[in-house]
Amino acid sequence: MAATPSVEIAARGAKQSAVLEFLKSGPKKLLIGGKWVASKSGKTFETINPANEEVLALVAEGDKADVDEAVKAARKAFEEGKWPKLGPHQRARFLFKIADAIDAHADELAELESLDNGKPLSQARAIDVPAAAETFRYYAGWCSKIYGETNPSDPSMFNYTLREPVGVCGQIIPWNFPLLMAAWKVAPALACGNTTILKPAEQTPLTAIRLGELLCELGLPDGVFNLITGFGPGAGSSIAEHPDIDKVAFTGSAEVGRLILHASEGNLKKVSLELGGKSPNIIFPDAEMEAAVPNAMMGVFYNSGQVCAAGTRIFVQRDIYDNFVEQLTKYTQGMTMGDPLDPKTKMGPLVSKEQFDKVKGYLDIGRKEGAKVTIGGEAAAGKGYYVKPTIFVDVNNDMRIAREEIFGPVAATIPFKDENDAVFQGNNTTYGLAAAVWTRDVGRAHKVARALKAGTVWVNCYGMVDPISPFGGYKQSGFGRELGKYAVDLYTQVKTVFVKL
Ligand code: NAI
Ligand code: MG
Repeated sequence: MAATPSVEIAARGAKQSAVLEFLKSGPKKLLIGGKWVASKSGKTFETINPANEEVLALVAEGDKADVDEAVKAARKAFEEGKWPKLGPHQRARFLFKIADAIDAHADELAELESLDNGKPLSQARAIDVPAAAETFRYYAGWCSKIYGETNPSDPSMFNYTLREPVGVCGQIIPWNFPLLMAAWKVAPALACGNTTILKPAEQTPLTAIRLGELLCELGLPDGVFNLITGFGPGAGSSIAEHPDIDKVAFTGSAEVGRLILHASEGNLKKVSLELGGKSPNIIFPDAEMEAAVPNAMMGVFYNSGQVCAAGTRIFVQRDIYDNFVEQLTKYTQGMTMGDPLDPKTKMGPLVSKEQFDKVKGYLDIGRKEGAKVTIGGEAAAGKGYYVKPTIFVDVNNDMRIAREEIFGPVAATIPFKDENDAVFQGNNTTYGLAAAVWTRDVGRAHKVARALKAGTVWVNCYGMVDPISPFGGYKQSGFGRELGKYAVDLYTQVKTVFVKL
């Protein structure tokens, strides 16, 4: 049995009374059919504050038996409940209310996210939480804009299409942007009239649980949103395999993406996968260096590098390589690492011991491969999963630190010869989630943007994401596009109706 957590120690420095009350209110439960219930096995697991390695809360460990119950509830809500049949304006109003509730609880949600994930509170408050609210608001707008078509047909026929919800959705999300990833999944699913079972990552379940509480308070009909906390094998795999789930949406590692795809075979679920990346950030000599350097730094170190679209391979034209690396190293000295709740902190710890060990392992691998460190290259002393922001030079695109997703604050800087070489090396990866190019030459900017095999290309900026625009991967970064009108395709299916006149 896990020990009762000491909230005072684990959440030291937290200021929101609502957060402390939430953490102290006993083990967190599963949300099934509108009721908060313990897992059938009675098991719980600990969620930890990665800044001090202390237990924040105990959380119900859902398993196959619980997923079965959640699917029954979601199925009932879909087939018999009013949500899928609700008029578009009413459904929109509901999603707007969710967005407003997130805004109204922004300070609380940001602090909870920071404690559970380790990201700086300032960033959770400025980015994660408002972006989650905006995602619900954006999809609220879609509820009344999901059109079918009337088709040109033989005069003896009236032929039209309907866009209908897919049904029961299973949504499995990672720990790097816990609340925001929940919003990316849940908002379009609900907007299109589906019911859903969300499984947050075991490292960071707390904001999804709080979101579930808010949805209950708003009166979302029972069974429309169900929450199963737990581990990948068990809770996650039972969702991926379940014969009565119609669609599964997953964000996480490529390795688990493959497992999800296999597991979906049984009932041929519709699958969308958003997997990892090893995104190239290409710096030409004519780039505006005052912008390129700090953006390249944030592009790789933001969220401690735990970003699927992180610009982890920084390609710099050979003539400016030494100078660029020198400036990047200088800027990185200002990447203040420390207590996520401290307003001065720009970088917090990694999310977990597992991630900490993985990233440290890559620091050794990089050195063994012959790359050199200009800054960082080690973990910080003391408690918490802190790894210093690290820049590797003399990296070659064939090294493991240039090919494998590290998911930590580790930059691989690689020289290139000319435009062709930059595009060739940039594309020479199994991934294709994002890419960036820095140049003042407008022709080159567009040419390179076209040539890069990536789902998103940034020109003279890095990391812009907006619910308006699609997000997803080429190659092994997955398939299906989230956000924008594309998520409406993921969460609806098209029916053709022929009417004999
Ligand atoms: P993961 O892919 O194992 O976990 C992501 C989610 O999938 C979690 O909710 C987890 O519980 C669930 N899951 C795990 N195994 C499952 C299974 N067999 N069936 C169904 N669901 C399952 O990622 P993990 O282990 O946390 O991190 C490993 C690496 O994955 C990271 O170092 C990073 O390279 C990559 N990653 C990529 C992310 C992205 O945004 N694309 C996010 C998180 C991790
Ligand atoms: Mg895993």
